[in-house]
Amino acid sequence: MIEFKKITKEYPNGICAVKDVDLYVQKGEFVFILGSSGAGKSTLLKLITREESPTSGSLIVNNMDVLSLKNRQIPYFRRTMGIVFQDFRLISKMNIFDNVAFAMRVTGASERAVRSRVPYVLGLVDLTDKENSRPNELSGGEQQRVGLARALVNNPDLLIADEPTGNVDPSLSFEIVELLNKINNQGTTVLMVTHEHGLVGKFNKRVVEIENGQMVSDSCDEQLASGA
Ligand SMILES: Nc1ncnc2c1ncn2[C@@H]1O[C@H](COP(=O)(O)OP(=O)(O)O)[C@@H](O)[C@H]1O
Ligand SMILES: [Mg+2]
Repeated sequence: MIEFKKITKEYPNGICAVKDVDLYVQKGEFVFILGSSGAGKSTLLKLITREESPTSGSLIVNNMDVLSLKNRQIPYFRRTMGIVFQDFRLISKMNIFDNVAFAMRVTGASERAVRSRVPYVLGLVDLTDKENSRPNELSGGEQQRVGLARALVNNPDLLIADEPTGNVDPSLSFEIVELLNKINNQGTTVLMVTHEHGLVGKFNKRVVEIENGQMVSDSCDEQLASGA
């Protein structure tokens, strides 16, 4: 599903945000990318979504060689993934239904498909009764659930979440990760970036730790090493 081989990303200002990363994520996995602020987590995700290109190395995502994608192919490539942002990025002038529907409409989906799919994903995140509300009428946790519904509406193979609990009340962070877990159990590969050690510790999932752009540990390797 995702294969980083010796990936390095140096920004034009000379900062090397990702160094020599080898990472393999199988279809159906749930992986936490854990690291402190500035560790290179967001850069790692931006390489996957092709918002940034690596300086060297090779990268395969959803069977596509990310480096050789042509510009015109990028929108189609991104449709194979759902992306959840720390700051929600909802459209304030649209109600909740339309915020989620928008992601479907831009792909050219029929209104008939929108009317059947949007209520389904809003139900999945338990927001059926908020369809007609505006984003500013919702709590942070609820807004992030809308972000999640929007990421899922096109039924992606891969869900990428960059600090999805960063602007959510800590007591509701657990709930967001549980929702990601539920989505993962239905077959979607999930990659979640966070700096919250405590939150990660509450779930028995693969944890890849990065520091200064380098992978320093992978709980998956530790299990292999210990024969677990
Ligand atoms: N567009 C950019 N141009 C230059 N440097 C950047 C850019 N984006 C991030 N960086 C730098 O790269 C490093 C890693 O950043 P980032 O990937 O955002 O880390 P994290 O998400 O773990 O906080 C930081 O030192 C940051 O300042
Ligand atoms: Mg970040």
